[in-house]
Amino acid sequence: MSQTDSGERLTAKGNTAFVEFEDGIAWVTMNRPEKRNAMNPALNDDMCEILDTLEYDDRCRILVLTGAGNSWTAGMDLREFFRAVDSLSPEEQVRQRRSAEMWQWRKLRTYPKPTIAMVNGWCFGGGFTPLCSCDLAFAAEDAQFGVSEVNWGIIPGGVVTKALEELMGSRDALYYIMTGETFDGVEAARMGVVNKAFPADRLRDRTRALARTLMEKGPAVLNAAKVTFKYSHLMDWDTSAQFIGAKGAQLRLIDPEGIRERAMASFLDRKEFRPGLGAFDREGE
Ligand code: COA
Repeated sequence: MSQTDSGERLTAKGNTAFVEFEDGIAWVTMNRPEKRNAMNPALNDDMCEILDTLEYDDRCRILVLTGAGNSWTAGMDLREFFRAVDSLSPEEQVRQRRSAEMWQWRKLRTYPKPTIAMVNGWCFGGGFTPLCSCDLAFAAEDAQFGVSEVNWGIIPGGVVTKALEELMGSRDALYYIMTGETFDGVEAARMGVVNKAFPADRLRDRTRALARTLMEKGPAVLNAAKVTFKYSHLMDWDTSAQFIGAKGAQLRLIDPEGIRERAMASFLDRKEFRPGLGAFDREGE
């Protein structure tokens, strides 16, 4: 993060996103309200920077993703991400796409801290990718969602189609993909696109309460539970049973009791144990 405004607020280099810290919650705001927070290359780079930073910042125990003004995000920036990138070299096109996908799903889907999308307004097109990547989502009842790509002569690209497949049943997904109609937060909650919808003036308080509930749980358990859920649905039952068993065992190993540290100390400091030879026997050597 290049600029520290104060101890409780960080602004990303490109000035298109910022973070506010509040008692363990990092409120991450996409900040191009004049463009309805459309995701341009600068915003994608800023969000990569923010996710990298918060991963190691103890002030962030729960990440909430929201948008400035009356929009969550109007999707990919049609001018700066589509039209302008079309004329770039193939190498630069790859870089721009990599930056977008890096934060929107590669990092966010299995982010080491719990994530909540707080959808305060417009959510279009490419916005469904970070929406789906967040673990949980609350929306304002009057937020408007739209898979508008059909109007632009394109299909829901990047991985938006994939995100819709995960968030919606096929009847609902194809209805909105093929008509481009919008739907509100209440309908989004009915379909399971978000967990719940609230009147706009209660959205922040309800999101804060959800974040506090999550903070009462063990961070390692939450992380293992969400990562296990996100991968196991890609597997058949037999493979999944093995994977879930392995993740459960892994969790016991990375628990706060510090088994790894104690074992290292046993070898390095107390000279009690060598993996190849068993217990040290200095006197006999
Ligand atoms: N890409 C680029 N610019 C966008 C944008 C997008 N996805 N969404 C909004 N903007 C820009 C507008 O061009 C306008 O810019 P300008 O002030 O330079 O003219 C500015 O943001 C405000 O948009 P405007 O349409 O005037 O605001 P609104 O409040 O009346 O409507 C939306 C908001 C979100 C309903 C409307 O902007 C919209 O439909 N955007 C396109 C959404 C979309 O289809 N996204 C999917 C992309 S694949």
